[in-house]
Amino acid sequence: MSKIGIIGAMQIEIDLILDQMDVFEEFLFAGFPFYTGTLHGKSIVLTRCGVGKVNSAACTQIMVDRFQVDCIINTGIAGSLGKDISVCDMVISSDVTHHDVRKAQMKNLFPFQESFLANQNLIELAKKACESSDLKLTYHCGRIISGECFVSESHLKENLIQNYSPACVEMEGSSVGHVSFINQVPFVILRCISDNADEEASISYENFEKLAASQSAFIVNEMVRMM
Ligand code: ADE
Repeated sequence: MSKIGIIGAMQIEIDLILDQMDVFEEFLFAGFPFYTGTLHGKSIVLTRCGVGKVNSAACTQIMVDRFQVDCIINTGIAGSLGKDISVCDMVISSDVTHHDVRKAQMKNLFPFQESFLANQNLIELAKKACESSDLKLTYHCGRIISGECFVSESHLKENLIQNYSPACVEMEGSSVGHVSFINQVPFVILRCISDNADEEASISYENFEKLAASQSAFIVNEMVRMM
C-alpha cells in the first residue's frame, strides 16, 4: 500500500489531521515528531517541521529515507501575492521556487531548475477536494515561492511579484519541493491565505492563522479521503 507523507510547519497546521488519524506510532528524528498511522484507511506519516526552509528540507528528507513515502503533501498558510487571491482562499502549487536564491544560481548549479513542478495528479486531486468540500473555498493554482522571511512590506511584495509572478509566499514549500524533486518523490503544496504580505500582514496573520491553517488541513484530509 502506498504511503502518504504530510508536512505542516506549525502545530495548528497539523492538529486537524492528527485528530482525525489513527496514530499507530510516534517517532522523534532530529527533534521532529513523526506520527505513523492511517487516515480514511490510507497509510500516512505526519510531521510538524517548524518554520523555515531548512527545517522543512530536513523533514522531507527524513520522510523519504526513514518512512519511504510515495508522495508528499505540504499544508499550511501563506501571504497572498495575487490581486484576485484573498484571505481564506486556497492556493494549490503549480510549481515552487526559492525567492531568496538567485535565478541564475538555481539554473546553473545542481539541481538545474528555476522551479520545481508539483505532481499533476496531486494537483488535480487537490482541486477536486476544494470543489467537493463543504467549505466551498475559492481556490487558485499557481506558483508558490518561499524564503527565510515573513513578507510584510509592499516594496518587497512588489519585487517578488515582478520577479516570480507568484500566487503566494510562505517559508517552507520550495524546500519541500526541492528535496522531493531530487528524490523523485511526487509532491504538492497547499496553502490557505492568512494575509496579504503587506504592512497589515502581521495583524491579518494573527486574526486568520488558525482558520486558514485548519482550512488547509481540512482540504488535505479530503484529498486523502478521495485517494
Ligand atoms: N506565511 C503566512 N503569511 C506569510 C507572509 N506574509 N510571508 C511569509 N510567510 C507567510
